[in-house]
Amino acid sequence: IADIKGGPDEGLDRVGQTLVAMGWVRTLRVQSSVTFLEVNDGSCLSNMQCVLSSDAEGYDQVESGLISTGASIWVQGTLVASQGAKQKVELKVDKVVLVGKSDPSYPIQKKRVSREFLRTKAHLRPRTNTFGAVARVRNALSYATHKFFQENGFVWISSPIITASDCEGAGEQFCVTTLIPSSREAADSPVNAIPNTKDGLIDWSQDFFGKPAFLTVSGQLNAETYATALSDVYTFGPTFRAENSNTSRHLAEFWMIEPELAFADLNDDMACATAYLQYVVRHVLDNCKEDMEFFNTWIEKGIISRLNDVAEKDFVQLTYTDAIELLLKAKKKFEFPVKWGCDLQSEHERYITEEAFNGCPVIIRDYPKDIKAFYMRQNDDGKTVAAMDLLVPRVGELIGGSQREERLEYLENRLDEMKLNKESFWWYLDLRRYGSVPHAGFGLGFERLVQFATGVENIRDAIPFPRTPGSAEF
Ligand code: 4AD
Ligand code: MG
Repeated sequence: IADIKGGPDEGLDRVGQTLVAMGWVRTLRVQSSVTFLEVNDGSCLSNMQCVLSSDAEGYDQVESGLISTGASIWVQGTLVASQGAKQKVELKVDKVVLVGKSDPSYPIQKKRVSREFLRTKAHLRPRTNTFGAVARVRNALSYATHKFFQENGFVWISSPIITASDCEGAGEQFCVTTLIPSSREAADSPVNAIPNTKDGLIDWSQDFFGKPAFLTVSGQLNAETYATALSDVYTFGPTFRAENSNTSRHLAEFWMIEPELAFADLNDDMACATAYLQYVVRHVLDNCKEDMEFFNTWIEKGIISRLNDVAEKDFVQLTYTDAIELLLKAKKKFEFPVKWGCDLQSEHERYITEEAFNGCPVIIRDYPKDIKAFYMRQNDDGKTVAAMDLLVPRVGELIGGSQREERLEYLENRLDEMKLNKESFWWYLDLRRYGSVPHAGFGLGFERLVQFATGVENIRDAIPFPRTPGSAEF
């Protein structure tokens, strides 16, 4: 359908052709002389309006009610100019074939249903306008991500999902455990299997074939090993956080894009983050026009012009110290008190981008070292590190990044100070022993980018199958 309607004249250029469409019936209107079927195949937001008169082959299936909302059908007909105001062309059907009928209990009827309701129908929600559009924009963002990095000479690296390291040091990891089938039946059904035990207790720490292992929280440390060999690299894959937080911005499983630049400092890192974000936003505006118009009308009024500004205007940059000054001077009362050294809460981040800078993305740099991870490069003041967060309106932190500590002795001291086990980072320290280089990178939460680009308020609606505390059904 996108093929037909996406042409230069929304299909008018193909009037007179005999065409076939396959898709799912969105709505069905029976009138005295003709029946209108709106068919959607997911290739675009718009439906193909199919007009059937009683002489069309297969019409009896429409008449008898066998073809109903939700059914899958195959139609063949002639493309004609439409009298209707909503579309330029429609299909005058010669033949309709029912492919799969739809039970009357089909829950996605024409009336608008809430997104909360649709979260309980994750298997059927892609058949709605909103979720179809989100899926296509997510796909476009993913394509644009690879395109941006490939065009700029980055090499895509697959970082492992199972790892022994805790990159962020926040202890928010899921543990990997090996299930031992307790019986023949259990072998057939892993749910009945039992975890490794020691003295009758589950031994979570020894469970990846005798060693502790976790689901990765970030591919950064692995990316660093490749950046210090291939220069610029990036990862794009799933990451996991055992954060028991029920917010509209957190998932237990989310996708992260992590570029790592060799022979680069924090300024190069911020420039890369800015160029990347502007590129993917521009790509979506140029290539997902119909879906973006839909979001602009139904999900977030004015999103197109706001994204245009993001793609064109410079981002604001300020230091953490200046951001704290700004918050202290704000007339607003915050729930979490502000003082130098505190971590910025989402209310602070939102105030900065939404109110202080009027919706412009803001990069905050040089955070206190005590609220940041061990690998960040110490600044000369001895108090701050070369870290940066990129904040955008509504979503808050979209990107977190830093210049990495490339000096062996500084890194070893920092690991000691933070009481982290130096031995387990032997390979990471080796990168500083053999041909160390200044390098920097960042991580962007892909679902937060989808939220930002589409306007969907809840991160659960930015990923096909959201994993949050208590939800991993299928
Ligand atoms: O700021 P974070 O924790 O940074 C890192 O993991 C670094 N190792 C990245 C790097 O420098 N290579 O996470 C990066 C981004 C955040 O800015 C946020 O967009 C997203 O990942 N993120 C989440 N997205 C959804 N759900 C969660 N629970 C998230 N936690 C982080
Ligand atoms: Mg962060």
